[in-house]
Order: sequence, then C-alpha cells, then structure tokens
Amino acid sequence: MSNAKRLAGEKAIEFVEDGMVVGVGTGSTVAFFIDALAGLRHRIGGAVSSSEQSTERLRRHGIEVLDLNSAGPLALYVDGADECDPAKCLIKGGGAALTREKIIAQASEKFVCIIDQGKRVAVLGHFPLPIEVIPMARSLVAREIVAQTRGQPVWREGVVTDNGNWVLDIHGLAITDPVAMETVLNQIPGVVSVGLFARRPADVVIVGGDIIQIM
Ligand code: 5RP
Repeated sequence: MSNAKRLAGEKAIEFVEDGMVVGVGTGSTVAFFIDALAGLRHRIGGAVSSSEQSTERLRRHGIEVLDLNSAGPLALYVDGADECDPAKCLIKGGGAALTREKIIAQASEKFVCIIDQGKRVAVLGHFPLPIEVIPMARSLVAREIVAQTRGQPVWREGVVTDNGNWVLDIHGLAITDPVAMETVLNQIPGVVSVGLFARRPADVVIVGGDIIQIM
C-alpha cells in the first residue's frame, strides 16, 4: 500500500512545470509527493498548502509556502483522496483537511488526484463522508443529515480542524448522485465544507501500485 502511495506521489511530479506555484494537499500519499517535490524546490515558485501538517513538511524541505490570496489562481493542485469513482468524483477529509483542500482545488486549473488501487469504487460512500461543522451546530447538522439522507453521522470526537471546527463522518451512504448530495449537504446551516468533491472533481487520477495508470 505505501509503495503504491509512493509511486503515485512521485508520478505526479510529471505535472509540475518550472516556475509553478503548486497547490499541495494533505495525507500520507501527498507526503510522498512533497518529498519528491523537494528535488524541484529551486525550479518552482513555491507551494500553497492545505494543512498545517503539509506546511510543516514543505518548510522542512525548504519549499516556500505562500498564501493563496497572494498566489492567486493556481495551475496545479495535487492531493490524495479516500475514495474515487469513475467520474473522478471524490470523498476526501479523512485527514480532516477538507475545507482548505476544497478551496485550493477550486482555485486550481488542474487537480491531479493521487491514490492507490484500494481507493477506486463504483459508488462513493463506503468510506464515511466527512463534514466540517461549526462546533455549535454539530447536533443541528447531525439531525439534518439524518432527516435528509439515509446516512448516520458520527462525531469524530477529539478532532479539531486547522480552522478550529469539528468533523462529522456520515456512515451508510451510497452516493449515486454525488453532485446532488454535495449540493444538499452544502445548504445545511453550520456546515463549513462537505468532503464530497463532485462539483469540482479531479481532472486526472493517478493510481499507484505496480502499474501507474492515468484514467
Ligand atoms: C485529508 C485527505 C486525504 O487526501 C485523504 O484522507 C487520503 O489520505 P491518504 O493519502 O493518507 O490515504 O482528504 O483530508
């Protein structure tokens, strides 16, 4: 598994061009990408990071971390996922970084998603769908989720996001219409972000393992 993640992370380097400011996601697969990106640190314009965890790793490698507001639109975003369907719609947020990940994905022209084979699914939802919520709205959002979906929200107790918020994981979903599900959940007051990347899916998916495949 970790070899597959390493292969995927290293393959994504092929999308990095000289002078680029690179959007960087979060997670163990992205860690391999960051390590490979270090070899290009003198050729890129820096990185925009989706989490404190990735920022720390980028800086340790001497890669400059820029603020998205000053970097502006990005040419490339590289990030992992928890699940990926055939339309390149994703479940993300297993590492609780979904909100900043979603912001950077939206700001980027090309979103390259790096995964291992086990993340590919026909229908999203076996992996519990993360939702970042404002703490005071946790119970309200959970009740609304029960009323509006067939899912069961579970509070990821003890986890506080980089934005100071909490995470609910929705179990038991079979997401046959990811865009509709994302749209419905986005409307619940107190929801900061939905870990469903369907309105802005990946553009390219790199699947690690013995064979690297670009779908
Ligand atoms: C973090 C994420 C990650 O991309 C996702 O959890 C995959 O992580 P990993 O590469 O460690 O399997 O969405 O919020």
